[in-house]
Amino acid sequence: MANTHETAAGTNSLAANGEIALQRLTDVMDRFAGAMTRVVNAYADARNPQRDAHWLALQMTKEFGAMVAYSRKIIDTTRKMEPLKAIRKACQDCYEEAEHYVGYRLIFDWYEEGKPYQNPDMWGYGDFGDFAPGPEMKQSLWPEHHGYVAMAKRLSEETASPWVRDVIYANREGAAVAFHHAMTLLPATDEFAKRVIAHEREVARDELYHGPQLLRELARTVPSEAEMEEAVAKITELRVQELRQRNEQFLHPLDPAAMAHLESDFRAMRSECVPIFSAMPRN
Ligand SMILES: [Fe+2]
Ligand SMILES: [Fe+2]
Repeated sequence: MANTHETAAGTNSLAANGEIALQRLTDVMDRFAGAMTRVVNAYADARNPQRDAHWLALQMTKEFGAMVAYSRKIIDTTRKMEPLKAIRKACQDCYEEAEHYVGYRLIFDWYEEGKPYQNPDMWGYGDFGDFAPGPEMKQSLWPEHHGYVAMAKRLSEETASPWVRDVIYANREGAAVAFHHAMTLLPATDEFAKRVIAHEREVARDELYHGPQLLRELARTVPSEAEMEEAVAKITELRVQELRQRNEQFLHPLDPAAMAHLESDFRAMRSECVPIFSAMPRN
């Protein structure tokens, strides 16, 4: 494949060439999708009832947390007197998160035969506060998840560039489509997997529009090569942290050595290219 880094570095007019900029951003994300597929494959190989129930319960409460975040956005966009289009988008996104939440909950209820989940702390997993770990998100229980949410906030605060901040915003939640897409490819070996795959297809389709749809516009408005480099560095850090977060959510099917290998492959763009982000429909 062409070395897009060299191509980008040799062009000092990224701002003038949205296609090159878009390829630079989607290359990172498609390689991330490949890395995420390896985490999901490790879970598929190590599945057991404890792992199945654990990731599912946490994903359910994470979707609830996303609902809460979008409900705040509905209020914000309305109070700021933004156009109906913006308010409608926040309402639509909130509704989709409700569908995601209920979909996982129905699978969970079926799997656990109506028994309540053993861990009452699980709701704290979705406590995103004001885009930072809220008081119920326990670092002691989910250090990598807590680390992910805290990192997204820190990286946004560290940059002096509003454009880089927008890239992080589009990447913070929108990158999850890589996880959901990988989950659609689980081996359909039992009823649990079949139900999960059917739901993940719906979630993956929706999540393409919870961030990735902004990439093309962001690529058209790159202010400088330096800001592109900063954005790529920051989203790479955030994606490495999501790999750790998902491995934790699956109760660590990859051991520390395997995780270190995976992270190094992703940073060097050696993980497989799964063309999800580069295949986003043009709008
Ligand atoms: Fe969702
Ligand atoms: Fe979402």
